[in-house]
Amino acid sequence: MPATLSAIVGDITTLAVDAIVNAANPSLLGGGGVDGAIHRAAGPGLLAECATLGGCPTGEAKITAGHRLEARHVIHPVGPIWRGGAAGEPALLASCYRRSVELAVAHGLASIAFPCISTGAYGYPPDLAAAVAVEAVRRAAGHTVSLRDVVFCCYSAGDHARYAVLLGPRP
Ligand code: AR6
Repeated sequence: MPATLSAIVGDITTLAVDAIVNAANPSLLGGGGVDGAIHRAAGPGLLAECATLGGCPTGEAKITAGHRLEARHVIHPVGPIWRGGAAGEPALLASCYRRSVELAVAHGLASIAFPCISTGAYGYPPDLAAAVAVEAVRRAAGHTVSLRDVVFCCYSAGDHARYAVLLGPRP
């Protein structure tokens, strides 16, 4: 069965899903934006666990426990920094979404929530990023056994509107 894709506006750190997805950097040692918010909400145990992981290359992802979050897990992909679009950014961004779905499936998770990876500090144009995200998740989550719900957790009405158009009318 394909997973159901939906978009909401909200603070991803509050969601009671099996995994929330971060927008990390290669150190996996925290930062600003959604990364900082997740680490603040999860508490110091998350940073301690991340410190054991040896970092993460751009386009790849690692998984940890959720610590003090409602979410049981955090998946930490590292998005590309936008350099104009001809430096492999779309493939690297698609890889973040695909690898995150693959990790969720490998852990038997049923629900996962994504932020708009790379569209803050990393400068990826949000309209282009949303199209990549939806396409990559549709492909990766098309035929999974465990995964039922994929939520795009937008932090602005503008992002939500973009995803609403891409996802089409609700069934
Ligand atoms: N819930 C949901 N989305 C959020 C939240 C939140 N609580 N807070 C911010 N966003 P960014 P990047 C949105 O900058 O571009 C960090 O320092 C935000 O509005 O968090 O991938 C890392 O350590 C935007 O739409 O991530 C890296 O160094 C989206 O999350 C670097 O920033 C992503 O913005 C990664 O940059």
